[in-house]
Amino acid sequence: MTSLASIQQLQANSESKRTVVVKPIPKHLYSSVILSFLEQAGQITEFKRIKKKLYAHYSTPTTAALAIQTLHGTTLPGTSIPVSVQLYQHQYAEWRHEKKETKREPERKMKKKSAPVTLATTATTATTTPPRTTFTGRYLLQLLKIVASSIKAPNLHPLVKILTMKRKNHVKETCESFAATRALFDFDQRHRLNLRNGQKNIVAFVPGDGCRPYTASTLMLQVPNTWTIFSIDPALATNKASALTGAHPRLHCIGKMLESISLDDPPFSHALQHADVIVVLAVHSHAPLQAFWSSQLPSNVHKIAVSIPCCGDYGWLKTNDLQYQYIDGEIDSPGANTVLVYENIGRDK
Ligand SMILES: C[S@@+](CC[C@H](N)C(=O)[O-])C[C@H]1O[C@@H](n2cnc3c(N)ncnc32)[C@H](O)[C@@H]1O
Repeated sequence: MTSLASIQQLQANSESKRTVVVKPIPKHLYSSVILSFLEQAGQITEFKRIKKKLYAHYSTPTTAALAIQTLHGTTLPGTSIPVSVQLYQHQYAEWRHEKKETKREPERKMKKKSAPVTLATTATTATTTPPRTTFTGRYLLQLLKIVASSIKAPNLHPLVKILTMKRKNHVKETCESFAATRALFDFDQRHRLNLRNGQKNIVAFVPGDGCRPYTASTLMLQVPNTWTIFSIDPALATNKASALTGAHPRLHCIGKMLESISLDDPPFSHALQHADVIVVLAVHSHAPLQAFWSSQLPSNVHKIAVSIPCCGDYGWLKTNDLQYQYIDGEIDSPGANTVLVYENIGRDK
């Protein structure tokens, strides 16, 4: 099909004209690199990588048409072979159900003391969850429920107090934090990781949390006591990080730059010694996530990161670890509501 014919067909209508199929995709190329290339034409709300193809669902038929018009026949970054960018002709939903090219990962020994962890599905290719496109206020309702249930749990009051403090935009900021925890819990459930069953030690880092540990508190309120959470932001220093730390014995507020902390020092070293899984939640964070993920964190531990980038490329990791990308319409921040989920299962010791 010519580019012009593709454009006419795309403009003819509808939802089904927003998906393009890109091929051939070299195996070694990171999904994030391919997505940056495709997003020159516009926002992508979902994608799936299968064998040598990548299916990308654009937010509008017009941007899909633009991708075909401008990117078809050009080369992906770092490669010399021109790619085909064509309209996906079948029913919109079908590509989601195509079989993934995934090898089942063997069971992996995490740390010497912990049980082997099996992933229900593996993540050698990236895929997406269905986007939540409309705002219904579900995260506000969730906060209300937490506040109501905390009445009988006085130990949670300081965390609830943090979440209900005066802020610039309650809806936006509350939704961002809950969206990050939601993405993590969805991932946990989908891959049957049992992060919240109280049997695994989880260490969570929340870089760029703001002047108060909002996302860290949101997380702490929804996880068992086997979690240790570090909220890390130089802005916390202005709010007496030690007082905020007192909000919960397992919540640590570190008023420092992420790159200036040493994970070999307490309190990090102590927590990491027993960690089965490390979690990173970066919500509109400006901390250097890439270096933290690939250099600071230990390479032999199972790691999961949820990032909701706002500006620049702070929240994007250049790695093959991207597992999910979708727009969460429940986040009241247009243009800053893309949720990215990365996972690295860690190398054997
Ligand atoms: C846009 S604000 C987001 C704050 C909060 N997460 C929110 O969504 O409301 C970016 C935050 O990143 C923090 N930040 C900037 N550089 C940082 C660094 N090197 N390490 C940790 N935090 C950093 C800033 O202090 C600021 O609080």
